[in-house]
Amino acid sequence: MSEQRTRFDLTNEEMPTAWFNLMPDIVGAGIQPLPPLSPQTKEPIGPADLAPLFPESLIMQEVSTEQWIDIPGAVIDIYRLWRPAPLFRATRLEQALQTPAHIYFKYEGVSPAGSHKPNTAVPQAYYNKEAGIRRIATETGAGQWGSAMSMACSFFGLECTVYMVKASFEQKPYRRIFMETFGAEVLASPSERTNSGKGILAEHPDSTGSLGIAISEAVEDAATHDDTNYALGSVLGHVLLHQSIIGLESQKQMAIAGEPPDVIIGCVGGGSNFAGLAYPFMAERLRGTSQTRFLATEPAACPTLTKGVFAYDYGDTAMIAPIVPMYTLGHGFVPAPVHAGGLRYHGDAPSLSLLVKEGHVEAKAYTQNSVFEAALQFAKTQGIIPAPESSHAIRGAIDEAIQARESGEERVILFGLSGHGNFDMTAYDDYLNGRLPELEFDPAAEEEALAGLPEVSIKI
Ligand SMILES: Cc1ncc(COP(=O)(O)O)c(C=O)c1O
Repeated sequence: MSEQRTRFDLTNEEMPTAWFNLMPDIVGAGIQPLPPLSPQTKEPIGPADLAPLFPESLIMQEVSTEQWIDIPGAVIDIYRLWRPAPLFRATRLEQALQTPAHIYFKYEGVSPAGSHKPNTAVPQAYYNKEAGIRRIATETGAGQWGSAMSMACSFFGLECTVYMVKASFEQKPYRRIFMETFGAEVLASPSERTNSGKGILAEHPDSTGSLGIAISEAVEDAATHDDTNYALGSVLGHVLLHQSIIGLESQKQMAIAGEPPDVIIGCVGGGSNFAGLAYPFMAERLRGTSQTRFLATEPAACPTLTKGVFAYDYGDTAMIAPIVPMYTLGHGFVPAPVHAGGLRYHGDAPSLSLLVKEGHVEAKAYTQNSVFEAALQFAKTQGIIPAPESSHAIRGAIDEAIQARESGEERVILFGLSGHGNFDMTAYDDYLNGRLPELEFDPAAEEEALAGLPEVSIKI
């Protein structure tokens, strides 16, 4: 039996009571954030422009320059259903890889919905309820965000309409049933419910959907109903803020482990779990007190950070969401239907995009089969079947551990295991039976999508 400690838990009392905002450090490091622009006027937008979609409290968080923002008591009570989340050392994986590296992972799959998404779904539902909203309209890719939002809405007595990317709707019936169990209405997107959905179906009746299209539908639904607000599961500043609880807990847990991480790895769809884990540690790098490396991993079929351009682009396909500065493949880009549905987004969070551009975050893209190979190696050693999205981080961690073995280095690796894959059995079945196409990226589709970037006066 090994004497090695493999689990680092915090007590209830040690759970953070404020979220961490990296913006002061980004500005402090001389990196200038750029304003979001209106999709109509293409001029910078202010808080009032976001009022049809979000409650004031979340808009204030979006533009906040405060370092710390208190977590409301009602949200803390719900967080305590599964938080603090455990941090593990993957000693069995280390042994299998014969690596001198120490591999740690922060596990968000312990949440009731199975991922990090409830960390922001719960406060978003809370603030909307406080503002007197009756219903939330949202999108979901993999089904993880929709599950989290459905659960959070049921906790606060809100109705929930979820536009679920058609590819996932078909691949993951159990995710739909999960959401319906919490009382949500789930529609396959593109749907006939909205003008954006109808428009896309008229042009592409067989569309498998995308996050960009589903976002357009949910934004349109919210903007056209006074009692309904929109909730986004990633990309926006307030979402990244709520996810900071992941990194804040991990900092305390790595301190217990007694090893500061040399490299921190997370998968990126819109950037929220990556930022949640990384940003509290990133503050130290930006302040010059640590040299930790950061690695963002993404699918080769939707390589926003590795093959996208840094530009102002619409957050959604129908061009009704704000225009933001980010790495993008073009808002019209529809990624191939890889099983990591939550990573099929054409853009990335603006703050993360800036950190990649400035060289503080490295990025790598992987094809599906190499990701599932890593997922199986992890499952067979550590016992957790990871979400296909999270498996991109595992691929990155395994590659780092192999490099450490080759160079004989004692690297300390920390990665984010953003969710379990217990509802992703179709994906595993496809992999195990050799039915998983590599689904590489199509540069011609990107070129076409990039031709549609909006003309804006701010040059970046
Ligand atoms: C398990 C899991 N990990 C990661 C992601 C990617 O989103 P983000 O980049 O916002 O963390 C998703 C999105 O649905 C997800 O379900």
